[in-house]
Amino acid sequence: MSDKKAFQRLSQDVVPLNYALRLTPDLTTFTFEGKELISVKVQKATTSITLNSADINVKSVQYQGGKQEFKDEVKVAYCSEDETVTFNFPDLLQPGEGVVTVDFTGELNDKMKGFYRSKYTTPDGKDRYAAVTQFEATDARRAFPCWDEPALKATFDITLDVPKDRIALSNMPVKAEKEVGERRVVEYERTPIMSTYLLAFVVGEYDYVEDKDADGVLVRVYTPTGKKEQGQFALQVAVKTLPFYKDYFKIAYPLPKMDLIALADFASGAMENWGLITYRETALLIDPTQSSSAAKQWVALVVGHEIAHQWFGNLVTMEWWTHLWLNEGFASWIEYLCVDYCFPEYDIWTQFASTDFTRALELDALASSHPIEVPVGHPAEVDEIFDVISYSKGASVIRMLHDYIGDEDFRKGMNVYLNRHKYKNTFTEDLWAALAETSGKPVQEIMSTWTKQMGFPVLKVSEEKDGNRRVLKIRQDKFSAGNNSRWMVPVSVSTASSPTKAVQRLVLEKQEVTVTLTGVNPGDWVKLNTGAVGFYRTQYSSSMLESLLPSIKNKALPPRDRLGLSNDLFALARAGEASTVDFLKVAQAFVNETNYTVWSDLLNGLATLATLLQYTDCHVDYMDYTCKLLANIAKSLGWDPIKGETHLDAMLRSLVIGRLGRSGDKGTVAEAKKRFEDHCSKTTILPADLRAPVSDMPGS
Ligand code: BES
Ligand code: ZN
Repeated sequence: MSDKKAFQRLSQDVVPLNYALRLTPDLTTFTFEGKELISVKVQKATTSITLNSADINVKSVQYQGGKQEFKDEVKVAYCSEDETVTFNFPDLLQPGEGVVTVDFTGELNDKMKGFYRSKYTTPDGKDRYAAVTQFEATDARRAFPCWDEPALKATFDITLDVPKDRIALSNMPVKAEKEVGERRVVEYERTPIMSTYLLAFVVGEYDYVEDKDADGVLVRVYTPTGKKEQGQFALQVAVKTLPFYKDYFKIAYPLPKMDLIALADFASGAMENWGLITYRETALLIDPTQSSSAAKQWVALVVGHEIAHQWFGNLVTMEWWTHLWLNEGFASWIEYLCVDYCFPEYDIWTQFASTDFTRALELDALASSHPIEVPVGHPAEVDEIFDVISYSKGASVIRMLHDYIGDEDFRKGMNVYLNRHKYKNTFTEDLWAALAETSGKPVQEIMSTWTKQMGFPVLKVSEEKDGNRRVLKIRQDKFSAGNNSRWMVPVSVSTASSPTKAVQRLVLEKQEVTVTLTGVNPGDWVKLNTGAVGFYRTQYSSSMLESLLPSIKNKALPPRDRLGLSNDLFALARAGEASTVDFLKVAQAFVNETNYTVWSDLLNGLATLATLLQYTDCHVDYMDYTCKLLANIAKSLGWDPIKGETHLDAMLRSLVIGRLGRSGDKGTVAEAKKRFEDHCSKTTILPADLRAPVSDMPGS
């Protein structure tokens, strides 16, 4: 037994209604002064109020409510382990409304959390500091004492007192400002009722570009000074994305403005603060001449992700961090929907199948994985669950559910869910309930098998002869590691005559079923998991696998299915459930492959094998095998961008050249060397997309 004290959430005897918060950061001493007037509701008579606070020095506390008034007699007690501060009053606070006034000071820390300092360099080379915030998950308490739990929503009236030559931003537009000597005092409009982790403040020097979306929402992208053209790409994405979500959810963006800002020091990729989204520079800025296709795609996905949270997360918020996956899994799914809308040429859903989907399958196969929904308490535990399971498995099971109930009912369900719970908090079950209502399907029953237990099944499929009928035998087992877990698996079956649309669907509940296929031609191949949307792996009998090979070679099998098939086989070989030789034989069927994402995924597998074989006798033969496999595609792409080629062709060239180089292809290595030298001597500048593969080339 550990002697750790059980974690407790804050008491709700007293809850906040509104915070009038004024902060005065000092950008030279890296400290700040704060004053807050918190309007509270005393729900139950009590002599004390405990709220969250960390590394804050409380200077004075007062309480005024009804006829009660306490000033100097309030005692302050800190608990650093719990990150709380308790105000003890000499008498019971009577139920009703009151105001707690707190004066305090804090540090603009260098930990990239709470209210922190971010170092940047001015165009003339001087080092300077901005004061910025990162509050999710549990660091608003480092900026001001507050009920720092997502369910304790309140409105906020923010005032920032800043040096007069700095830009000051918060969630809402400016309501009033006045200059006082060398300072400027900026008051912002009242926020909607919201959680503390979504507040944000930025004080620093920036340029911006701006535009309005179709509904007149003012969107600005703030960049480092002198780099405003690098904000243009994200601005275009944001202006298109806001109306896209408005239409998808059938709910307007609730704030009058939306700022996106690139910060020099930033711990994660980006943060969805309501109306003031903060980004790491690489997740927001695109240099029109220097940035690669991959960098653009990343910016589009991150912008799409954070803007989705403005509804899913900010308007409707998880009740507690146990349901964090709901926020992150959902945003990690819908960011693809949004990018697919803005940039259909990226074929981004196929990329999902090789990034989030396979990453989640790989991690979730490990004994050290965990269920999507995990009980969490202390802040240290909360930080741990921002992981591949919450994000990528979360996104994958939502994708599977979306496919199972269909887009129309899914959208309707989202609208019901968001309208029913707006400005409030939810549990995972609330989303299932809304989707079950609109689809009439057993969403809760199916989904709890995916969110409450870790791992996923492998479906072993074989075909049985039964006269003229075509019958599949399907059996589920937990993938790697034998136990008796069982899932409710939405299974789909496609065939040679219907490669992209499932001809048969079922929900596999038992361990084993036999399914009679209807209307399938005798000679047609049969494949499970159409479009690789189901969160499971498939293991085919040898004859079924054999029958699929020609359709890989002639690409009659769609890209996501080709990718899913080879990825499953590689994972099975890795787990000792299939032979590596079989995988390599199947890989050979990809000689005519032209799809970027399929190559990317297959080459990941082949690169893993290359590492394993590195010091063995067969390494040279293996490298040769890889080069031969890539010969056709390398030839057709060449080295130079072809006029009118797609985003994906550019990414594929970079991928193929990189892999050929690492597989020791002499011609590729020599050409890379030459082009690298030409670039250095400024004879011919390397296109942005070739810089990574050429500079990573062995021997360069
Ligand atoms: N809410 C998160 C930011 C976050 C991450 C806060 C970890 C606290 C701890 C944000 O929405 C997010 O998910 N950002 C991602 C980028 C996204 C495109 C996957 C990130 O920062 O990696
Ligand atoms: Zn997120």
